[in-house]
Amino acid sequence: MKLLEKLKGMEKTALKEIIESANLDELETSRVKYLGRKGVITDAIKGIKNVAKKDKPRVGQFINKIKQKITVLIAEKECSFREEEQARFENDDVTLPGIRREIGHKHPLIKTMEDIIEIFTRMGFKPVDSPEVETEFYNFEALNIPEDHPSRETFHTFYVEGGHLLRSQTSTTQIRIMERHKPPLQIIHAGKVYRPDAVDASHSFMFYQIEGFMVDEGIAFSDLKGVLEGFAKEYFGEDVKMRFRPHYFPFTEPSAEVDIACFICGGKGCRVCSYKGWLEILGAGMINPRIFEFVKIDPSKYTGFAFGMGIDRICMLKYGIDDIRLLYENDVRFLRQF
Ligand code: DAH
Repeated sequence: MKLLEKLKGMEKTALKEIIESANLDELETSRVKYLGRKGVITDAIKGIKNVAKKDKPRVGQFINKIKQKITVLIAEKECSFREEEQARFENDDVTLPGIRREIGHKHPLIKTMEDIIEIFTRMGFKPVDSPEVETEFYNFEALNIPEDHPSRETFHTFYVEGGHLLRSQTSTTQIRIMERHKPPLQIIHAGKVYRPDAVDASHSFMFYQIEGFMVDEGIAFSDLKGVLEGFAKEYFGEDVKMRFRPHYFPFTEPSAEVDIACFICGGKGCRVCSYKGWLEILGAGMINPRIFEFVKIDPSKYTGFAFGMGIDRICMLKYGIDDIRLLYENDVRFLRQF
C-alpha cells in the first residue's frame, strides 16, 4: 500500500530529526512540525477520511503508532536535555571563593579635606559653599588688597571673560558670608583655588584651601590659638608642637604663619622639613577692622579671627607624598596605595 510506505518514510525522517536535535529549541521546532495543530501527524489523521473504508482501521492504527513513537521520543529527548543542564549546574563548586568586586575609595586629597572639615565641624564651625569664579571685589578689594597693593603679586590670578577671575584664595568666603550674615559667625569652607604658577613638585595651577573664621563680641588671639592647637592635636596627634611666627596678610592684623614641629624628625631636621625642624601649615590672624567696614559689621563691637591652609600640603605631609603632581595625575598605581 502506497500510503503506508509514505507514512513509514515520514516516520523515519521524523525520528531521525528528533534524535539529532541539538538542544531544547530544536526539539520544540520538531514537536511543532510533527505534533502541532497544523503538524504532519495531525494532517495525516485528517487525511484518513479519504482512505478506502476497509483500509481505514489499519491506516488509523499505523498513524497512531507513529504518533506515539514520536511523542515518547520527544519526551525522552527533553528529559535528557534537562538532565544535562542539571548536571552542568551541579558541577559548579559552590564552595569556591567568589569573585571579589573592586570598590573604589576616596582620593587622598578629598579624604584630607573631609577629615579636616570634620574636626572643625566638631568644634562648632559650620561648613559653607562659596564660588570659584569671582570678581576682583571679593578676591582683592574687600580683602584690603587694592589694585596697586604689592601683595597682589603673591596672589597671581587667572582672569576670565566678563570682568571675572578664578579665585586665588578661599578668603573670598569671609566676604561672601559676612556681607549677608551677621555675627556670631563660625564658618569653615574648603575648595579649589587657582594661580598661574609654573607647575613643579610643589606648585600646581589649581590646588585646595580651607578657610575658617569666627566673629563675635570679645574674640581674642587666644581663641585663635586654642582652636588651631585643638585642630593640630586632633589631626597630627597629642604631642604635636606648634609655633606662631609674625607675618603679614592684608586682611588680618596682627597676622601669623603657623608651623608644627616636623613629625618625621621630631624637630631635629630632615629632608621633609628642609632641615628646619618646622613645617609651615597655615596663615592666620585677627580679622582686620577694615574688612568689617567692607561688610558693614561694627568693628567697635565685634572682633574675629581667620585662618587659611593649603590642603594639598597637609595631605602631602600626612601621607609622605613628595610631589604635588601625583595628586592630580590620577595614576591608579599611586591612588591604590591609600
Ligand atoms: N588667603 C591666604 C593665602 O591664600 C591664607 C590666609 C592667611 C587666610 C591668613 C586667612 C588668614 O584667613 O587669616 O595664602
